[in-house]
Amino acid sequence: MMKSVITGTGSYLPEKVLTNADLEKIVDTTDEWITQRSGIKERRIAAENESTGDMAIFAARRALEDSNSAPEEIDGVIVATTTPDRTFPSVAVKVQGELGCPPGLAFDVQAVCTGFVYALSVADNFIKCGQAKRILVIGAEKMSSVVDWEDRTTCVLFADGAGAVVLEAQEESAEGIDGRGIHSTHLYANGNQREMLRTSGGPSTTGTAGTIEMQGREVFKYAVTYMADIVAEVLEANQIKPDQIDWLVPHQANIRIIESTAQKLGMPMDKVVATIDRHGNTSAASIPLALDEAVQDGRIKPGQLLLIEAMGGGLTWGAALVRF
Ligand code: UT7
Repeated sequence: MMKSVITGTGSYLPEKVLTNADLEKIVDTTDEWITQRSGIKERRIAAENESTGDMAIFAARRALEDSNSAPEEIDGVIVATTTPDRTFPSVAVKVQGELGCPPGLAFDVQAVCTGFVYALSVADNFIKCGQAKRILVIGAEKMSSVVDWEDRTTCVLFADGAGAVVLEAQEESAEGIDGRGIHSTHLYANGNQREMLRTSGGPSTTGTAGTIEMQGREVFKYAVTYMADIVAEVLEANQIKPDQIDWLVPHQANIRIIESTAQKLGMPMDKVVATIDRHGNTSAASIPLALDEAVQDGRIKPGQLLLIEAMGGGLTWGAALVRF
């Protein structure tokens, strides 16, 4: 049985730092409010001429280097994004072309903040069924391009960046949960909740990308419930106890949602990778950004068990259990 193993991680953050103090000058808000309600202190904002694809390429190059893989060895590129460079073609084909990967599968996945978990699951299935051997899975977003900079309820939350992993087909290294690779993925959406978090437009309606509109309090409530349910499902599906998990690598939307999930698992916060204070909510990029940070600074080590989870517009939600 083939397993999908993460053999490299990489990420990219734009240079420009936007602090809460900077936002105080743009909208009626305070550092205190943003910090207390979301946990965010600062975030990165892409330059005007810097696109989602550009950031994805930087992150992908670093992931390839980290995994000692050459672009020629990549037979799939999957990019999770909700802020593509163009309506078409996909960001994935731009990455594939710019990196010099040979012809192979390449497409974008749109599941908003859950996008990376969806993309990881899709890539895992391609690998398990033998249709690809080495896939670049990327989460990249320029959320600043769909933010309404006059709406204080959303503009203080969202940010830009990209993260990537190389996912590789490898023979099962050990029995069951002890083996390296993705052990399970769990994906959900409830389309009846699609108006709760959305943009105000799109190519086939208004002809523009639109800007973010969110019923924050409602989304928050569902986020807490869905994350609690899905981590329980992961534990049950893999027949494991929370103390077997080395790291929780959650989507970074709100520190209070993250803390609530950790609490449900009985996991102390020092086993949780939290980047929200410095990254803000980078949608599909937040998990691979957090993962790469903790891998590169030596917190996450090969062989450790990671629980990844996310929730976002759709509403969508998902999780994955991975032995790194
Ligand atoms: O990544 C995709 C998934 N997204 C999420 O998971 C986000 C989920 N939601 C949240 O994280 C939180 O709901 C927010 C951080 C968005 C908001 O926190 P909250 O504790 O739910 O605040 P609220 O929306 O209930 O607003 C409380 C008050 C309101 O004033 P009143 O009505 O009580 O007078 C808002 O108008 O805070 C006000 N407010 C602000 N005040 C200062 C809203 N935004 C701001 C702001 N600065 N930026």
